[in-house]
Amino acid sequence: TWTTGNVVDEQVALIRAQVGTKRAICGLSGGVDSAVAAALVNKAVGEQLTCVYVDHGLMRKGETEQVEKDFVAATGVQLKVVDAAERFLNALKGVTDPEEKRKIIGREFIRVFEQAQAEIIAEAGEHGESVDFLVQGTLYPDVVESGGGTGTANIKSHHNVGGLPEDLQFQLVEPLRKLFKDEVRMVGQELGLPEEIVQRQPFPGPGLGIRIVGEVTEERLDLLREADAIVREELTAAGLDREIWQCPVVLLADVRSVGVQGDGRTYGHPIVLRPVSSEDAMTADWSRLPYDVLARISTRITNEVRDVNRVVVDVTSKPPGTIEWE
Ligand code: XMP
Repeated sequence: TWTTGNVVDEQVALIRAQVGTKRAICGLSGGVDSAVAAALVNKAVGEQLTCVYVDHGLMRKGETEQVEKDFVAATGVQLKVVDAAERFLNALKGVTDPEEKRKIIGREFIRVFEQAQAEIIAEAGEHGESVDFLVQGTLYPDVVESGGGTGTANIKSHHNVGGLPEDLQFQLVEPLRKLFKDEVRMVGQELGLPEEIVQRQPFPGPGLGIRIVGEVTEERLDLLREADAIVREELTAAGLDREIWQCPVVLLADVRSVGVQGDGRTYGHPIVLRPVSSEDAMTADWSRLPYDVLARISTRITNEVRDVNRVVVDVTSKPPGTIEWE
C-alpha cells in the first residue's frame, strides 16, 4: 500500500544505492519540489549533499529567510546562499520588456548558480572527493511532458565561470519522478518541512521581476513586497489558501492615478490583484473572492503601502489573459 512513509523509506534506499559515497549538489528555489527533493537526499546521504540557493532579490517577503533559516533548521542540510540581488538589479536596469526580463533573469541565474557549483566542486576536489550528482525536483507530470527524460544533465560552462570543465556531466538524482504535486506535499510534511514551504502555491522563477509592469527597481520591489505580504496574510486569515490556485499581486509601476488621502491629493500607483482558480495553470478562472476580504485587502494596502492609492481586481479568465501580467 502507498503511504508517505513507504515512499520516503524506498527513496532513501534508492538514493543511497545511487549516490554511494560521492557528493551531490541541489539548487533550491524556495518552491516545494526542490525543497522536498533536497530533504529526501539529505535524509539519505546527509553531509554528502550541498544545497545552493541563489537569492536574486526578487523573492517575496520572508521567502529567502524561510529557506535560509526554517528549511535548514528542519533538515540540517548544508546550504550555500549566494546573495546576488545587486547583480540582478544591475542587469535589469532600464529593462521593461517581459521577455527581455525573463531572459536576463534566467541568464544571470545560471551564471551565479554555476559559479557556486564550481566553488563546491573545487572545494570537494581539495578533499579528494568528486561531485557526481545533481538533484532535481522533477515530478511525474514533468517526466511525461518531456517524453521520459535522459538521466543526465549537460551543463555548459559560461565564459565568465572559472574552474568549471567545458562540458560538465552530472548524473541526475530525481527522487520525485513518480509523484504528483499533492503527494510531494505529503512527503514534505512527513519529512517535517515547514508548512510555508510544503503548502506554497506556484510562484514564477523570475519572481517579482515579472510582477512589476515597468522597470524593476529596489524601491518598487520593496513596495510590491509589502502589498503582496498583506494580500497573502489576508487570504490566509480568511482560510482561502486551498481554494485559490495562486494570487499574483502586480504593481503597475508606469501607471499613476489621482487619489485623495487625508487632506491631500495623491498621484500614486495601482496594485492589481490576480486571484485565480485552476487545475494545472493551462487554463484558469478568476476567483470570486468574498467582498469583505477584498475590502480589507484594499484598505490595508492603501493605508500601509506608500505610493499606492488604488487597488484593482483582475476579472479575466485564462484564456484570454495569462495568469501573470508579464
Ligand atoms: P501564465 O502567466 O503563463 O502562468 O498563465 C502559468 C503558470 O506558470 C507560472 N509562470 C512561470 N513559472 N517561470 C516559472 O517558473 C516563469 O517564467 C513563469 N511564468 C509564469 C505562473 O505563476 C503560473 O503558475
